[in-house]
Amino acid sequence: MTRKFYITTPIYYVNARPHIGHAYTTIACDTIARRQRLLGADTFFLTGTDEHGQKIERAAQAAGKTPQQYADEISAEFRKLWQRMGISNDDYIRTTEERHKKRVQELFRRIRDNGYIYKGTYTGQYCVSDELYVDGAQPGDPCPTCGRITETVHEENYFFKLSVFQDKLLELYANPEFIRPETRRNEVISFVRSGLRDLSISRSTFSWGIPVPDDPRHVIYVWLDALANYITAIGYGSSHAGAQEAFKKYWPADVQMIGKEIVRFHCVYWPAFLMAAGLPVPKAIVAHGWLLFEESKMSKSRGNIVRTETILDVLGADALRYFLLREVVFGQDGSFSFDALVQRYNSDLANGLGNLASRTLTMINRYFKGEVPYPSPSGSKVAADDVIAQTARKAIHEFGILFDQFQFSRALETAWGLIAAVDKYIVENEPWSLGEKHDTESRARLATVLYTSAEALRIATALAHPVIPDATAKIWMQMGLGDIKKLALTDLAWGQLPLGTKLGEVHPVFPRADKSAVERMQQMEDQQRGPAAEESKEPATQAAATPAAVKAQPAAPVTAPNVATDGKITIDDFAKIELRVGVVKVAERVPKADKLLRLEVDIGTEVRQVLAGIAEAYAPETLVGRKVVIVANLAPRKLRGLESNGMIVAASLEGGKPVLASFLEDVPVGARLK
Ligand code: MSP
Repeated sequence: MTRKFYITTPIYYVNARPHIGHAYTTIACDTIARRQRLLGADTFFLTGTDEHGQKIERAAQAAGKTPQQYADEISAEFRKLWQRMGISNDDYIRTTEERHKKRVQELFRRIRDNGYIYKGTYTGQYCVSDELYVDGAQPGDPCPTCGRITETVHEENYFFKLSVFQDKLLELYANPEFIRPETRRNEVISFVRSGLRDLSISRSTFSWGIPVPDDPRHVIYVWLDALANYITAIGYGSSHAGAQEAFKKYWPADVQMIGKEIVRFHCVYWPAFLMAAGLPVPKAIVAHGWLLFEESKMSKSRGNIVRTETILDVLGADALRYFLLREVVFGQDGSFSFDALVQRYNSDLANGLGNLASRTLTMINRYFKGEVPYPSPSGSKVAADDVIAQTARKAIHEFGILFDQFQFSRALETAWGLIAAVDKYIVENEPWSLGEKHDTESRARLATVLYTSAEALRIATALAHPVIPDATAKIWMQMGLGDIKKLALTDLAWGQLPLGTKLGEVHPVFPRADKSAVERMQQMEDQQRGPAAEESKEPATQAAATPAAVKAQPAAPVTAPNVATDGKITIDDFAKIELRVGVVKVAERVPKADKLLRLEVDIGTEVRQVLAGIAEAYAPETLVGRKVVIVANLAPRKLRGLESNGMIVAASLEGGKPVLASFLEDVPVGARLK
């Protein structure tokens, strides 16, 4: 029976346009999926977009769009990019699709029916950016993952009995294959050992999500919704026989690839949800590091992203794929720079594989009329030929082992070691000089040298195919071998190049890039960012390399790189104040308090009661419908027995009447002032 192989990327949030950090995860998975197909596995490769939750709702609001419109646009951008890059995914799931919503509700029901869900009240801190409950944090504390200030949530929620899974999870982690690499596994183990609290799995203060079955006032916690994509896409919870079959066939997943910051969700919550639903857990969760640019994690909020399109326009998809997998030690953070990209491209692709292909194939054209020559068994063989054959055999063997352990960089090193060996072999054997001679011995030797070079080229090309699919498909055609997708990698061995094969037309596959390539890419990115980009960068409050993925406790107060002096505050201090645009829904006087008004202000995610000392300046009825600025993360306080949850921002001179801050242009409710 054919072996199956199911691999997933995380699904991408639609609050940010795709950049090469996202492309990194997708490329790694695509490469694995391609190799598995060549190894004969019935492969299913899934990617998609994560479209619900408060973060998306707010981003849409700030862009003046409905969440659905907003999600449609950005999800389409991701999809278009993957298509342009030739990503070989078999499905593309969106969490706003009907098929997903129904099946997530089914999962929720199943977990509830199994007794793992109860109702309770959650009061605590929440990071909207990471959609993460931050246990133990206090109002004003930053999120341990991203450093942004958490928001206080006080809601009646459905809770998942995560705490009862502690032992089962630890048993699961005893299998070293489940979480990779080892460092992440150790972090998860110590996080779970330190004790697990039940997890709130619904929200009721906003509506952009999948309704809880039988209680539509609540929407399902976005991480439960999102994680479920891995099973809903392949048919879980469907009543169709075909979908059920697919689910049975592909689940559990063989590899779930993620970035290190979402380890906790995938290694703790996800297997616990599955266990609670009585479903098998994935075979392996594999976490990669971050792509850094200008020393910190590439991300929209830091304003340091590099768009994939720029690289595709100038060097092509293969260049990016090769660079990322060769340069970054998988599992660790890796730096991206245009200089390094072009250097790698020139040294390994243009001068390496590309040059080997064109010089070998051109010489076969010139000296053997474009037909792969027969190596002469007698007399013309020397030890150097065997060295190449041995190096190729070793490369096939080691590449497979290293690649399947996700050591892409080392695997590629092995294949390129073969290319370097052949380059040296060609230089030493001087086929161009042999070609000038017409005696039988020289012809035989020339045939052997070019055959040996072509066979090594074929093997390096086959190994590299999953990583650089376009160029290798072209080389394969040029070698007269047809469609490379038909290659059976399991059988790859030295000596299979059919003798006498007629070559196809030979063209260079990796033209050399000159210095201007770096400048062009840099310029394209600068244009995209625009002059305002520098100022709009949010502070990078946490060192990029902090493995914050599984921290249970809120981070220690963040030490900002720019320290305040002279009574001034730093930008990080300012970022702690959450100023938001709200609209007044209700305004009334407070009995026996001449200066106070009681307002109900909608700030996009919830309606807040705020007491404001503005009664002498504004009649309550003039305020309803007016947009105001509120300090949204001020600790609640009581005035005249009423709770005030925030503060309205107003200007006033000593003794003068307050004047409410307002805007000349229209601004969406919920927008943040920064
Ligand atoms: N929506 C969640 C995942 C839900 S999965 C059930 C999410 N989305 S994300 O868009 O923020 O990130 C998706 C993937 O892109 C993650 O694996 C993340 O690590 C990866 N990357 C985003 N920026 C990155 C870098 N700068 N470097 C490397 N990978 C990064 O998390």
